[in-house]
Amino acid sequence: MQAGPAKALCYHPLRNTHSRIEEPVLAARILNGTAIRDEIYKELESEIASLAAAGVRPGLAAVLVGDNPASKLYVNSKIAACGKLGLASFLLTPPATISTEGLLDVVADLNRRDDIDGILVQMPLPKQVDAKRILDAVDPAKDVDGFHPENVGRLVAARPRLVACTPAGVMEILRRSGIPVEGAHAVVLGRSDIVGKPMALLLLHANATVTVCHSKTRDLAGTARRADILVAAMGRAAMVTSEYIRPGATVIDVGQNVLSAAEDVERIFAKFPEKLDAFRKKGTVLVGDVHPEVVETAGAYTPVPGGVGPLTIAMLMSNTVRAARLRRGSGQNRGHAARSSS
Ligand code: GUN
Repeated sequence: MQAGPAKALCYHPLRNTHSRIEEPVLAARILNGTAIRDEIYKELESEIASLAAAGVRPGLAAVLVGDNPASKLYVNSKIAACGKLGLASFLLTPPATISTEGLLDVVADLNRRDDIDGILVQMPLPKQVDAKRILDAVDPAKDVDGFHPENVGRLVAARPRLVACTPAGVMEILRRSGIPVEGAHAVVLGRSDIVGKPMALLLLHANATVTVCHSKTRDLAGTARRADILVAAMGRAAMVTSEYIRPGATVIDVGQNVLSAAEDVERIFAKFPEKLDAFRKKGTVLVGDVHPEVVETAGAYTPVPGGVGPLTIAMLMSNTVRAARLRRGSGQNRGHAARSSS
């Protein structure tokens, strides 16, 4: 289904050099999520300007409970993206001790406010909070994460409205990179509500043949090796090795794992001296669910960082603009997420 690996004289990550050798080296095409995000932001900017001309400024409320450092980082990036695009943003920071009832009150308040089009409650929530009750309480029309059962059901029924951001972003990467989905065999590793399940549905609605794998799947590597498009979303650092990849396949890495143990970093990045240097300076390094050696087998892949990550926030911005339009009875925006699954 996919084209084989591109033969090119080019930068070769495993040799950390621009090749001066005579024979061509095999290297996967890098799917640049940052460039695709910038393309989407350009499109959103013109939509946001036309909304502004009509007196509408879409607004996003982010609820960050407690002080989980990773969640703080993610939410700050989301708020910064709103600032960059000229959307209104509201950051609410209830204490880690808040009860389910207390958080339900916060959500009810946001549901009532007309200046807020999108609500996101950053996950995970503290143990004492019933996360399902909180997600169910968000007005589906403002559910820019696409986690509410109504929005999940709409996706299942192929009538999507607000779709989970990361899988919607993956579809944008595939579409804008010209990777054929129709008729392809797509294998999704992971069945989470946030990524795996909506990812499988979006691929199915785009006419892929979809296999969903999980912790109980037998012969995981053999199943993955049948994929034209492999989406890795299990949250296991560098688990997907070359053994999982059919030569020439497109590999989408949704994982974002922070490594701090030197032995792990030295094993995974043994052939990547620049990553080892960065780790020695910083003390941590980010790795996806896909082992970096896969660059030698895949036809195309999304790097970590700089692949899927930037798209998650871009789709959140797209959903916020879409929610602003839908709430005002004008759903005719580009609707990146919805279009991907049509
Ligand atoms: N935690 C990890 N990913 C997400 C996400 O996409 N949205 C929210 N609200 N929380 C998350």
